[in-house]
Amino acid sequence: MIQVAPSMLAADFLHLEKDVELVNRCGDIFHLDIMDGSFVPNISYGFPVVHAIAGAAERPMDAHLMIVNPGKYLERFAAEGVSMLSFHLEAAGEDTEELLGRVRSLGMKAGLAINPDVPVENLFPYLGSLDYVLIMSVFAGFGGQKFIEGTLDRIRTVKREIRRRKLNVLIEVDGGIGPNNAPALSEAGADILVAGSSVFKAPDPDEAIRYIRVP
Ligand code: DX5
Ligand code: ZN
Repeated sequence: MIQVAPSMLAADFLHLEKDVELVNRCGDIFHLDIMDGSFVPNISYGFPVVHAIAGAAERPMDAHLMIVNPGKYLERFAAEGVSMLSFHLEAAGEDTEELLGRVRSLGMKAGLAINPDVPVENLFPYLGSLDYVLIMSVFAGFGGQKFIEGTLDRIRTVKREIRRRKLNVLIEVDGGIGPNNAPALSEAGADILVAGSSVFKAPDPDEAIRYIRVP
């Protein structure tokens, strides 16, 4: 079964508790987008917001770091109770292997994210050292963008490699996802679907989550 990870970037920050309760009630995972204005041309939110969500979250928290120098803050996210943490291959470069090891040694599941212009084959050398990959289906930086169709083939390619090597690696997909494309994503091999606008801007967010989970 698909797991739905509502992206809190699209939540109502003036009434955050209401949206945290929605995820506790209907979602599977809290997706926390951390942007620094350098790796991506946008700034989202930081530790005070993560801390507030952590205080009320009854589901696992998944931090998606869109920041340069991701190694700098791993301990802080672990201390907040984050249980899944991904950083971008483009940001980590040759430190990727070491950082994945550090994420795991802090007790978190280690994820590696890539933007749509990075060949998915670049993930392959790390598949044995991580718990999940985060395949971006829009360019990291903003919510509410249009899903890039070519993502489906990228998911299939990674899924094939995971199966061939009999690895226990999940595929998370992020950007422009909603009930309309969830069935195709699930069929292509996605395990976790991140959804921001299609959940929090829906007239009935509970129903939107259910439709994404059960295509
Ligand atoms: C984009 C973020 C996404 C974003 C998804 O950089 O990583 O998690 O919030 O939002 P939607 O679902 O609106 O595309
Ligand atoms: Zn994200």
